[in-house]
Amino acid sequence: MTNETTSLLTVRVARKTVEAEGIAGFELVAADGSELPAFDAGAHIDVHAPGGLLRQYSLCNPPGERHRYLIGVLRDPASRGGSVAMHDGLKEGDTLQISAPKNHFPLVEDAPRSLLFAGGIGVTPILAMAERLHALGRDFTFHYACRSPARTAFTERIRASGFADKVLFHHDDGAAEQKLDLPSALKSPAAGTHLYVCGPKGFLEAVRAQAADAGWPEANVHYEYFAGVEAHSAADRHFDVVIKSSGAVIRVEAAQTVVQALEANGVFVPVSCEQGVCGTCLTRVLEGEVEHKDLYLTPEEQAANDQFLPCCSRAKSERLVLDL
Ligand code: FES
Repeated sequence: MTNETTSLLTVRVARKTVEAEGIAGFELVAADGSELPAFDAGAHIDVHAPGGLLRQYSLCNPPGERHRYLIGVLRDPASRGGSVAMHDGLKEGDTLQISAPKNHFPLVEDAPRSLLFAGGIGVTPILAMAERLHALGRDFTFHYACRSPARTAFTERIRASGFADKVLFHHDDGAAEQKLDLPSALKSPAAGTHLYVCGPKGFLEAVRAQAADAGWPEANVHYEYFAGVEAHSAADRHFDVVIKSSGAVIRVEAAQTVVQALEANGVFVPVSCEQGVCGTCLTRVLEGEVEHKDLYLTPEEQAANDQFLPCCSRAKSERLVLDL
């Protein structure tokens, strides 16, 4: 969980496709025609979306490809605008800046068996994992849950793939017998089997809870949220942060994040997602009680109260002393 430096790449939108209702696919190639940095299954890129927003998108093309990156973007009008800017503001031929791939959701490639669970647009990293496991000749089953066939992205690609027989589609609006039956899908965990899940919070938590109930070892359960947390809520109140190195006391107003308050006072913490997902802004906490709001730290790491993500997390105490 170290901070990662960001080296920006300029890419061009070579193709923009409709992958499902509300889901656009973007094929990105290096603007200068060169090879792109290699990536592993589960990796994502930071995309500087039109309008100055920074968003993370998982790469869904077969790992090993160097001539392009493929991403899928769900249009979400309820979000803070990144996905709408991608849908409406980006067309074929446009250039944009992205980071090199990063991977917080790596695949255990030598596992004898893997179970993959994708909910909605959470399919993107899972698809890259399926491609990789298939290329390695590993045993796996891929459960893909969506609201309806019309909202199921990459269906044709999956049906035409060499692993089509390993994919089970589950649609909320479909017949009872095809619905995702988690107790049965997750029964009898084996020591060498690894489980991966990506999707909306409710889906991801349902899979994790069932895996815990069924006795899956935590180390074999891997997950990634595809959407971050909102930085503000109506219950937020002001508090102070103290900069250990200088002794400066900085007030964080109710409507500010810690990162914003620090920046306004000339203290810069590196950020990327600003949604509590990527871990870039991880900062050590020396005193005070944190109100964790992120999706990055494990419950155990949050309970330790010695680090936090200041792009979204706040304080329960009157002040926090930060190792800055
Ligand atoms: Fe991504 Fe804070 S910037 S977790």
